[in-house]
Amino acid sequence: MITLGIETSCDETAIGVIDDGKVLANIVSSQIAHTKFGGVVPEIAARNHVKVIVPLTKAALEIARINLADVDLISVTRGPGLVGALLVGLSYAKSLAISLRKPIIGVNHLEGHVYALQLANEALRFPYLVLLVSGGHTEIVFVEEAFRYHTLGRTLDDACGEAFDKVAKLLGLPYPGGPYIEQHAREGNIGAVDFPVPHPKGMSFSYAGLKTAVLYYTREHADHKVNDVAANFQEAALEHLVQVVSRGLEETKVQHLGLVGGVTVNSRLREKFTNLARNRGITLHLPEVQYCTDNGVMIARVGAERFKRFGPSDLTIDVVAREKLEDIT
Ligand code: KG4
Ligand code: ZN
Repeated sequence: MITLGIETSCDETAIGVIDDGKVLANIVSSQIAHTKFGGVVPEIAARNHVKVIVPLTKAALEIARINLADVDLISVTRGPGLVGALLVGLSYAKSLAISLRKPIIGVNHLEGHVYALQLANEALRFPYLVLLVSGGHTEIVFVEEAFRYHTLGRTLDDACGEAFDKVAKLLGLPYPGGPYIEQHAREGNIGAVDFPVPHPKGMSFSYAGLKTAVLYYTREHADHKVNDVAANFQEAALEHLVQVVSRGLEETKVQHLGLVGGVTVNSRLREKFTNLARNRGITLHLPEVQYCTDNGVMIARVGAERFKRFGPSDLTIDVVAREKLEDIT
């Protein structure tokens, strides 16, 4: 079954094509128009999706060496995300479904990230824990069985990627800041600055305090070294993730852990979690970088799985700005 996946929930227009478990195409157009604003401007995001979605789909079909008529299912992100941006993808998906007379399925972006794990390792076994860390989300989820999620904790304030982006902005680095923080951190000395690892209750995450500590430090030390600030912020931010996940592993006793979302591209994060998995004797599932950030393949994959189990969506489906994994209908 050939599935076309369409993702437009934020500032990436992404198209994926899969044939059952095989990836035929995966292309992403990242919008650089937001860089000068230091964050995503919703209206600009929506307009840019309109500009690129048709040529991007054509390019994906060419790479996949198929025609539109070969597509059996259209899977599209219906939320959570920016409503205007989501509407572009959903309207396009509906028009394709109507003109091709093919089924459509609207899927949850977060569940898409979870299904990126299927692309990492087919040996993933239930139950497992997923750490989802992106620009908009930071959550730890217990996946009991297919489509059954229990979020054990989420961020009380900023998402982890958002904290990377805000600290990068403080340091005068471009948006999105995560990759720039990582790059500067490589040249910095861990221990040169003492930033506290956040300790909220239970399995919650929190980045507001750490972000403020960086703000005060840079204000009070005009001669601060960007590399050292980046290295020590990154270390505290990632150590926080490791500590919460360790607690999750202890409580649930699961043997499989998956990491998904844009922040998991970070090589220091990969190193820290590889060590954690080794020390605890659990199996770590880390998708390739191209499947960690927003992409259309994960949307195609989750859509295909949901379609097999629950059938298609109705053409009247709408976008949703928010939707928890537990609440997917
Ligand atoms: O999953 P994603 O592509 O989009 C959503 O937010 O859904 O994640 C983007 C986030 C941004 O905040 C970006 O700064 C962060 O992932 N990111 C990184 C790195 N690469 C991207 N954070 C830390 N280190 C990186 N290398
Ligand atoms: Zn995402």
